[in-house]
Amino acid sequence: MAKTILEVVDLKKHFTARKTLLSAFKEQERSIPAVDGVSFYLKENETVGLVGESGCGKTTIGRTILRLEKPTAGKILFDGKDVTAMPSEELRKLRSEMQMIFQDLDAALNPKMRIRDILREAIKVHHDITDEEIDGRIGELLEQVNLKRSKLSNFPHELSGGEKRRVGIARVLSVGARFIIADEPTSALDVSIQAQVVNLLRDLQKHLGLSYLFISHDLRVVELISHKVAVMYLGKVVEMGLAGRIATAPRHPYTHILWSSLVGKQSKEASSAVRNVQSGIWGVFDFERAYAGCRFAPRCPVYESKEYPRVCTDPASEPQLRDVGDGHQVACHFPL
Ligand SMILES: Nc1ncnc2c1ncn2[C@@H]1O[C@H](COP(=O)(O)OP(=O)(O)OP(=O)(O)O)[C@@H](O)[C@H]1O
Ligand code: SF4
Ligand SMILES: [Mg+2]
Repeated sequence: MAKTILEVVDLKKHFTARKTLLSAFKEQERSIPAVDGVSFYLKENETVGLVGESGCGKTTIGRTILRLEKPTAGKILFDGKDVTAMPSEELRKLRSEMQMIFQDLDAALNPKMRIRDILREAIKVHHDITDEEIDGRIGELLEQVNLKRSKLSNFPHELSGGEKRRVGIARVLSVGARFIIADEPTSALDVSIQAQVVNLLRDLQKHLGLSYLFISHDLRVVELISHKVAVMYLGKVVEMGLAGRIATAPRHPYTHILWSSLVGKQSKEASSAVRNVQSGIWGVFDFERAYAGCRFAPRCPVYESKEYPRVCTDPASEPQLRDVGDGHQVACHFPL
């Protein structure tokens, strides 16, 4: 049976931000619970997809797992070792095994360096090897990510978005990563290039036995590549299960809406909710909006159709993830 490579237990990352210009003078701060008690695990050779709207906390989860952010609470176990409590020297060694493909295409590519030097530098950081061995490794990486050798003498700005993404993938492979957090690796790319990137990541997983946390706001892309999917809403996972089930039989009203708005399979409730989203009636939902109980209630079509049951907004009964069979979990008092 495949080994668990990553376990995230009740992870919290709360940021502090000043409330308004006026309260800034009074030095008042408010807390942004960007990640608010998230738990999941990932097996070797497996992909867990993390999906949700902009600002729900996806990138923060990725950055906190890699300890680019310090967690507020909770545990992160990589290969059974507690990353949260790890001294920085040990963490540095571990970083060669855990890597992130950043959401911003240019983030990891120094604009002043040629692609050859970017890769060379990444290989050298974690391995003590000769120049000849480095060149051999670069050749291998180019083949793995299907990039032409002629691109090595280019600067990042001379590459297309898809090529930059391939270099980014080569860079994380170059250090020997086994676990990769791919943060929106297909956003900002044309649809045909998106498919190429997804296929490349899948092939690499097959050949190199990689594990991925695949982050995207697009449930279609997430379903394509993931074995399991976790759906996030304002800092919480509201539904989790096998990718096929999340796509074909979602149980949380939010997942249903996410999916319906993409594929047009709309129930009466969901279609009115989708119309609301499209016409902007829902407005901007973020951590600033006060809530009690279920944080999805202000947008929930089920809450509305059931005539606002008190349990949904009772501060003492925030819905928790519950097993609804076959490892499928939903945080809703009235799952679909
Ligand atoms: N360093 C920070 N300081 C304060 N707030 C932050 C910080 N980083 C993120 N946030 C806030 O935390 C919340 C989650 O942000 P995050 O970037 O994780 O969302 P996301 O799901 O990745 O969004 P997107 O799909 O737009 O990339 C947002 O409200 C964001 O403004
Ligand atoms: S708990 Fe209530 S408000 Fe929250 S998603 Fe379920 S039905 Fe909607
Ligand atoms: Mg993000």
